[in-house]
Amino acid sequence: ATEGVPSSEIITLTRHVLHDQMRLGAAATGDLTLLLTAIQVTSKFIATNVRKARLINLIGLAGDTNSTGDEQKKLDVLSNDIMVNSLRASGKTAVLVSEELEDAIIIEEKNRGKYCVVFDPLDGSSNIDAGVNIGTIFGIYQIRPGSKGTIEDVLRPGSEMVAAGYTMYGSSANLVLSTGSGVNGYTLDAALGEFILTHPDIQIPPRGKIYSFNEGNSMFFHPPVVEYLKSIKYPASGKPYSARYIGSMVADVHRTFLYGGIFGYPDDKKSKSGKLRLLYEAFPMAFLTEQAGGIATTGTQRILDIVPKSIHERCPVFLGSKEDVQDLMKFYSA
Ligand code: AHG
Ligand code: MN
Ligand code: MN
Ligand code: MN
Repeated sequence: ATEGVPSSEIITLTRHVLHDQMRLGAAATGDLTLLLTAIQVTSKFIATNVRKARLINLIGLAGDTNSTGDEQKKLDVLSNDIMVNSLRASGKTAVLVSEELEDAIIIEEKNRGKYCVVFDPLDGSSNIDAGVNIGTIFGIYQIRPGSKGTIEDVLRPGSEMVAAGYTMYGSSANLVLSTGSGVNGYTLDAALGEFILTHPDIQIPPRGKIYSFNEGNSMFFHPPVVEYLKSIKYPASGKPYSARYIGSMVADVHRTFLYGGIFGYPDDKKSKSGKLRLLYEAFPMAFLTEQAGGIATTGTQRILDIVPKSIHERCPVFLGSKEDVQDLMKFYSA
């Protein structure tokens, strides 16, 4: 490139995904690209609401509790509505599962397409009122051959997802996506209103120096986690790890992808399956982790191999740099 001259070549998310799909040749119909366009629009819309939240009275509780017992914030409910409306209108979906809706939505015939989307419309809601990073998480399945869209189409292992991603609403809005051949990150250019490719081919460093757990739960943790944490805080040689914990999975995982290290939300004596939800938190993040060269495990099992029994079930999550997660797994197999 000529020095001092801005590039005239911008790669938008849509262009990038289209190009990717074109490589697949006849098999690609453009439907996934259109679905991802709808998801991008929801992220832009949620991002503008997040920015204005304090100004337009979008801070605080909505008054209800969702099916996993969380008190819903106004932004949880609004983000959910934005996603349901847009995904239904896209004509590309058959089944929708949201953290904020007790039951799956089965899309009526006239709007029906071949994809199922599972999503956490607003992740990190405890951070909203403080203006700390929050996000949206989504995973996409294709309905099974011959199916018109039923709950069985989403009660499938995460390894069967065709795409997964998240958008982080931080100092900029960042959409990170995998359609099954690597992970790419895009940054919203507010002037253009487009997500631009800024982080091509994200690879998690093989080892990091950061651990990200809610250690306030230490008294409930099981021995493998306690022992692992001890090993990185009191190493026999070298420097101890640094602690970073935001409390928004999207933000903690995003940092882990870029800087390396380990993120964990274990099962413990109080929460027998942990806190994070399998379908719309653990699966999409595990899918991205593996696509970026990392490992995502419950401690004893590959997360993407789990067969869900219900749409809101939970699962323990450890993910990140390959060597760090392998170190943790040793404490489980010992
Ligand atoms: P959500 O806001 O979508 O309900 O998710 C909250 C999750 C996740 O973002 C985060 O990793 C975790 O809860 C934090 O939990 P603790 O406050 O227990 O650490
Ligand atoms: Mn919640
Ligand atoms: Mn969440
Ligand atoms: Mn949420």
